[in-house]
Amino acid sequence: MGSKISKADDILRKMLSEKRIKSVEDKRVGSEVFDTITLKTLYKLANTGYIHRLNGAISTGKEANVFKGLDENDNFVAVKIYRVTTSDFKKMQNYIQGDPRFKVRTSNKRQLVNAWVTKEFRNLQRAEEAGVNVPKPIIAKNNVLVMDFIGDEEGDAALPMRHSVIKDPEKLLTKLINNIKLLYQEAGLVHGDLSSYNILIQDGEPVIIDISQGMTRDHPISHELLNRDIANIVRDFKKLKVNISNEEIKSIIKDL
Ligand SMILES: Nc1ncnc2c1ncn2[C@@H]1O[C@H](COP(=O)(O)OP(=O)(O)O)[C@@H](O)[C@H]1O
Ligand SMILES: [Mg+2]
Repeated sequence: MGSKISKADDILRKMLSEKRIKSVEDKRVGSEVFDTITLKTLYKLANTGYIHRLNGAISTGKEANVFKGLDENDNFVAVKIYRVTTSDFKKMQNYIQGDPRFKVRTSNKRQLVNAWVTKEFRNLQRAEEAGVNVPKPIIAKNNVLVMDFIGDEEGDAALPMRHSVIKDPEKLLTKLINNIKLLYQEAGLVHGDLSSYNILIQDGEPVIIDISQGMTRDHPISHELLNRDIANIVRDFKKLKVNISNEEIKSIIKDL
């Protein structure tokens, strides 16, 4: 990173001139999101080859923006950038301080967001190693997470289940329950915010995303979170005319 660059605009201009950020539209989206530290982080990730280009925004959420990027080998990547200003610190504090893997005792917002991103990275890593269908995490740095892009070869991002046409809901549900079970049994994690918004459909396969609030199975609130996840799944599949009870799903996941 050019150490003398300090102003966000300079960094953005440099990224633009080097075509690391492509279009004017991105700059507009960018300037809404990118504070100086975020830009420096992106710049560092650009210099180390993780992000060669940032293309369009895939999603502009409450707390984070997700962009499509290309790495130095022209592979698509997804770049999730948390906005420090609009993050839900109460939630982050609750979920991080209760997690034995994190010793964060801070009310510093930036530190909390960074820990949150690390948590999402580690949860994804654990899930991926357990064979759960998730985007493979590539790197987490400050408030930026780079992960595998879920989409097709042309670079069109996969749609959330919520916005997808589901041809065979029963089959999808079976696959999904299998993934939740792997997450629970093999990764020892409960997602905690599972719903048709956080399940992408890629070639008919469910891909679980957005797992930053995921908790270890042995944590006291994990039961409550699992029950909530299951209730969401039951509700979302009911809309697709698949009837299954909470207990049925639970007994499969827990091998009862
Ligand atoms: N790895 C990915 N590949 C493709 N699209 C993604 C990926 N991760 C997230 N997205 C898109 O961005 C949206 C928001 O991502 P998510 O992680 O759920 O963040 P939020 O906290 O805003 O809900 C998703 O619904 C999906 O459309
Ligand atoms: Mg989400």
